[in-house]
Amino acid sequence: MRIIKVLVAATSIIVLADCASAKIHKSALLQYDKQIDGIIKQMTLEEKVNMLHAKFMFVSSGIERLGIADMKYADGPFGIREEMQPKGWAGLGWETDKATFFPTGSALAATWDPELAYKYGTGMAREARLRGKDMILGPAINIQRIPTGGRTYEYLSEDPFLSSRLAVGYTKGAQDNGVAVCLKHYALNNQENNRGTVNVVIGERAMREVYLPPFRAAVEEADAFGVMSAYNKVNSFWCAENDVLLNKILRQDWGFAGMVISDWGGTHSTVRSVKAGLNVEMPDQKYFGKALLDSVKAGLVSEEIINQRVREILRVRMAVKPVPEEIANKEMTSQPAQQKIAFEVASKSIVLLKNEGILPLKLENKPIIAVIGANATQIMASGGLGSGVKTLYEITPLEGLKSRIGDKAEIVFAKGYEPVKFTWGRKSPEQLEKEKIEKELKSQELAKEALEVAAKANVVLFIGGDNRSVETEGSDRKDIFLPSGQDELIRKIAEVNPNIITVLTSGAPNDLNVVKPYSKALLISWFNGTEGGNALADVLVGNISPSGRLPFTLPIKLEDSPAFALGNYQQAKKNTDVFAKLVSETEPGEKQNKKEEIVSDDPNTAFYSEESLVGYRWFDTKNVPVMYPFGYGLTYTTFEYTKLKTDQPKYKKNDVILVSFDLKNTGKMTADEVVQVYIHRINPKVEWPQKELKAFLRVPLDPGKNRTVKLEIPVENLRFWNKSIHNWDDDLCKIELLVGSSANDIKLKKEISLR
Ligand code: BGC
Repeated sequence: MRIIKVLVAATSIIVLADCASAKIHKSALLQYDKQIDGIIKQMTLEEKVNMLHAKFMFVSSGIERLGIADMKYADGPFGIREEMQPKGWAGLGWETDKATFFPTGSALAATWDPELAYKYGTGMAREARLRGKDMILGPAINIQRIPTGGRTYEYLSEDPFLSSRLAVGYTKGAQDNGVAVCLKHYALNNQENNRGTVNVVIGERAMREVYLPPFRAAVEEADAFGVMSAYNKVNSFWCAENDVLLNKILRQDWGFAGMVISDWGGTHSTVRSVKAGLNVEMPDQKYFGKALLDSVKAGLVSEEIINQRVREILRVRMAVKPVPEEIANKEMTSQPAQQKIAFEVASKSIVLLKNEGILPLKLENKPIIAVIGANATQIMASGGLGSGVKTLYEITPLEGLKSRIGDKAEIVFAKGYEPVKFTWGRKSPEQLEKEKIEKELKSQELAKEALEVAAKANVVLFIGGDNRSVETEGSDRKDIFLPSGQDELIRKIAEVNPNIITVLTSGAPNDLNVVKPYSKALLISWFNGTEGGNALADVLVGNISPSGRLPFTLPIKLEDSPAFALGNYQQAKKNTDVFAKLVSETEPGEKQNKKEEIVSDDPNTAFYSEESLVGYRWFDTKNVPVMYPFGYGLTYTTFEYTKLKTDQPKYKKNDVILVSFDLKNTGKMTADEVVQVYIHRINPKVEWPQKELKAFLRVPLDPGKNRTVKLEIPVENLRFWNKSIHNWDDDLCKIELLVGSSANDIKLKKEISLR
């Protein structure tokens, strides 16, 4: 093992400010400060410290003596978690805590619809309030850096702008309805392997331009009240004690006035954490219990700091009214209004990738439809590690098809393959070998049955993909291949019936090299919530035109994607030079003039040497072909884009670019188009990705109808993070506006200039 020594920083004070525009967000939470002064005066030190750690697994203390209620938290982000034991991870087994399972993050993002994200937040908030909760542990808004990331399904997108718009929608929707959000996981928790030990090494520019924007937007534009610090380290400091992330960026630059809670078990110190800006240690009191009290008494932490941490919690407590005991938990958590929102999200999230005229399904002659694949009956609300939803119900694809198609077709189901099942603990080699043989035999049997069914059918609906045991918290996938031998099965099915429609119910990218050529139509239907099966059936039979768009790039192969192409996913050794460069320019926080030892081939170092080239930014800039581009998705109709205009040819740095163009539905069916505006810089002064998304809109249009679409791009949003001044800066160059229906399907272009 080679060890390189890198000088982390030799400078003394680094000024960090997001204040180029001089508009620092002023949180509504500040209005409670006078009242809070009075409360703090009445509190003993013990009472104060008592608020800074967990009371139960999902509760932290208020001050009973002063009538301040406890804070009650609930996972989040895609359904209110069942009621948990006070000190354990098991549920209490209640009957009334069955919640609506909302489509998970990548599905929500595939709608490209911030208004729908608002509704989603509304729905989550209503259920949280029915259960007496104050804070939803969501939305989960980390950028999808690697296709294999275990929580890709939970996160929104690979793109910071799309993630930001949806994070703002969700946050406003939740907080307008009386419950606080907790943005998670702040920050750079982009992988699950070694998440509790890994040190993310990243330069300032990529951090500010790619990874932090969703958090920043939700704080500045939606006044998010809560943030959860992540498990990992960023530039050598644990997120829960990261002065740069918490004090400087979150509170000072963005004006965050609320509370930061640690991820569960993600606190590592007492003095450093409380000084850096952590408010609550969850779900323990190892560092913020007696140890904190002792630290104050010993003079290591001032009472002013404790007062400030208490104040930040009390602000949220004042803004979020506790649900009275006699009202909470009286009704079933899941209710029709929320189920309707879940349906709407699901129906707008489904992405049609390919269609050789086989969809919508033709039912005139009562066809035989072979539904093949274990995912047709698989529940996606839970499974694997991490927060699942004890859902009131979940319509599976098979149930949805049966209910929507009724007797208009004969539906025959065959499981086809044995799905991956999550298991706890390690197994002996003998046990593993035995299971492998059994699985092999079972697979042969299931495949045989599937082929018999397929041979007799008019059309095969193959419903496969991952499941919640494959995509799971705590570990990343090893690769992106379809699990359980699905590729092999599809190959065999194609030999007996070429009319294959494939639906992948996955939350993250899959390798489509086999499935694409063998399928006449191909769709992604996500982990799509309580109503997922109904929404899918509506799309397949043509009640609704598909209108979801990819929130991430589908690479041809995993190795094409940036972190893997550069060999920097858990393998910093291959990039020692760039690594050293990045480390030397990182923001060091409180400890300056410090030499840091970094083990260069340590799997606990995630080295973001692709810098800002995440997702399509990488594929575009490096000219790497993709399977399907970011933003891609077909409908059952066609659209025409014409007449691109801007209100001016030249813009100053405080102007807003007004973009307009005409969009026409030239097909035969009502559908939504998601129009996307990317910008490409011409002769810029700094390096940029080939193009970046800067505006988008979901536009519903009836056949034959035309609409002038208007979008705004503030020039301010085109700034870059200048690491030499540690601030936003202008790059006033010529710009090409690219209007299209995906990152690779640009229909209209126009040049403008910034001065
Ligand atoms: C997850 C968080 C979650 C928390 C409480 C942690 O393991 O990372 O997202 O909110 O558990 O369930």
